[in-house]
Amino acid sequence: MVVLTGAGISAESGIPTFRDPLDGFWSQFDPEELASRQGFKKDPKLVMEWYAWRREMVLKAKPNAAHEILAKWENRFKNLTLITQNVDGLHQSAGSKKVLEMHGNIHRLKCFDKSHPCDWPSVAESPLTCSMCGSQLRPDIVWFGEYLSSDVVSKIDVALMSCDVFFAIGTSGVVYPAAGYLDKAKSMGALTVVINPDRGSKGNAECFIQETASKALSIVDSLIQ
Ligand code: OAD
Repeated sequence: MVVLTGAGISAESGIPTFRDPLDGFWSQFDPEELASRQGFKKDPKLVMEWYAWRREMVLKAKPNAAHEILAKWENRFKNLTLITQNVDGLHQSAGSKKVLEMHGNIHRLKCFDKSHPCDWPSVAESPLTCSMCGSQLRPDIVWFGEYLSSDVVSKIDVALMSCDVFFAIGTSGVVYPAAGYLDKAKSMGALTVVINPDRGSKGNAECFIQETASKALSIVDSLIQ
């Protein structure tokens, strides 16, 4: 089983999605300014403040029933691969141990020049610099125009090749490569299921559950007891 999650799974934990027309991050903020190397070079202080604000929001959030059910499924299904586009770490907070984070994690920093890993400081200092090479620190998040971790991508490819059931939960399916995974799983013979309150996200899935993540997963979970 392969499960791909997106921002919608954390919506019920109080974290805005990206593309909601009212409160989505990208309806209020410019991704070019806040989620690209060029934007960071132009105004690193603005970018770091924005991610610090988002991280504070995430630190206050708790995993919801959907995260918890998927954590339970990790023990239940030996070959479950959980892939997330989210950077909030809520799957891990719910107890999932093997999470493939496609877009990084907001709780980690790395340096701009050499990607040396680093933690957020407890006291806000500005500018933050790498203790090893002196370059500026940035969130360990994949920005637009950047490559995904090749290790994560190859683990995902292996999982998709042998997948029997593929779930896409709470994702608009517009950002590649994640947006192509459902079709890839389908072409390998998997049963494909989309869980999303928005009908527009159904794509080519054979099974579409038009519901929130927590409600849909609670029902699916009870049916496979
Ligand atoms: P989007 O904001 O594009 O889509 C969120 C989806 O969640 C939408 O299809 C909503 O209908 C759905 N949704 C909302 N509430 C839900 C709920 N309670 N239960 C289930 N679904 C719900 O977010 P992503 O698809 O995750 O990249 O976006 C993909 C990437 O684009 C993100 O990882 C981010 C962004 O740019 C980076 O930051 C690198």
